[in-house]
Amino acid sequence: MPITQVVQIAQIIERVRGVVGEDGPVLLHRPLFGGRENEYVRRCIDTGWVSSAGSFVTEFERQLCATTGARNAVAVVNGTAALHVALMLAGVERETEVLMPSLTFVATANAAAYCRAVPHFCDVSINTLGIDAGRLDDHLRLVCELRPEGCVNHRTGRRVSALVPMHTFGHPVNLTKLMEVANRWRIPVVEDAAESLGSLYLGKHTGTFGRLGVLSFNGNKIVTTGAGGAILTDDEELARRARHLTTTAKVPHAFEYVHDEVGYNYRMPNLNAAMGCAQLEQLAGFVDRKRALARFYADAFAGVEGVSIFREPADCHSNYWLNALVLDKPDMALRDALLEALNASRLQSRPVWRPMHQLEMYKNCPHMDLQTTESLAARVVNIPSSAELAGGGVA
Ligand SMILES: Cc1ncc(COP(=O)(O)O)c(C=O)c1O
Repeated sequence: MPITQVVQIAQIIERVRGVVGEDGPVLLHRPLFGGRENEYVRRCIDTGWVSSAGSFVTEFERQLCATTGARNAVAVVNGTAALHVALMLAGVERETEVLMPSLTFVATANAAAYCRAVPHFCDVSINTLGIDAGRLDDHLRLVCELRPEGCVNHRTGRRVSALVPMHTFGHPVNLTKLMEVANRWRIPVVEDAAESLGSLYLGKHTGTFGRLGVLSFNGNKIVTTGAGGAILTDDEELARRARHLTTTAKVPHAFEYVHDEVGYNYRMPNLNAAMGCAQLEQLAGFVDRKRALARFYADAFAGVEGVSIFREPADCHSNYWLNALVLDKPDMALRDALLEALNASRLQSRPVWRPMHQLEMYKNCPHMDLQTTESLAARVVNIPSSAELAGGGVA
């Protein structure tokens, strides 16, 4: 390795350490339980309501609506299950195609596969790390046409049944342009907002622009329920269907077990929702801390050559779920050396996901030119991002 790169890596480690302070091990993302988690979970246990019925689930859904501005929220067991059902409700069927970024967590693609649909991978914008709307439009002009049944890929003959933008590391995509493209091509939008609870685009919460939106409350997210997810929608009928499908399609009855279609056991347990209520009460504080941490990183890296800290796109208020170091140039060897050195220094760091089109099970899926995705895969390193790292420095 050239000596300049050795120096560069040492400098990066010094700057990250300077921001996070302590010299012990620092995790990539640690949940913060500073609220009423114990009290609410205890209440669940004391009352015996720990499973799929209980008042915390309803309360959690109410709080999610208040936080996001969505008319309806349906709490489920995880974000992947939420995506699965949201795609079904958007009309994703066997042998249709679902547009999504290749730069995403595998759950986005898996949810389409669960519906027996085919992911169709889109490239991302360097400014948002999410789908590049202009280039998507150009691509659709090339491979798709509008027919009575909707947008059809004339190369494969398959209908394009949904578009799934994902808000990478909590940074909103350009929703104005993306919704415009989706509407013009008559493609329903399901937002994968798993990472972006608390993130706004033009003052409106992510996950509320499409027909449906999806959140995750996995242990590594800004708000956690241990495991959990939610479906957001303004459409009452879709919300009713989401509730029905995620509770095994059980027909309400005093004692009979009657199910009127194939449903899913996806309802969030009360125990998880109890933790979620306590966590949501602290969301605004978490976002403030994470935004402060991002500013500390940006200041620390100002003037460091060859690398920068990703900053929120225009018109956005990001939750900065994960901070990202971006190398000026793609360089897999440097990226890996940096990851090794950071982790060896007990600063837990991770690369961005291996792009979906490079995974064995999705390598033959249709896609547009993916040059930015491939470049970013060799440039992005996520560094410690827990809310607690902002210390008392919240502005
Ligand atoms: C972009 C994205 N989509 C979907 C998911 C799936 O969420 P979960 O882990 O709750 O199933 C996650 C996170 O884990 C994610 O980051």
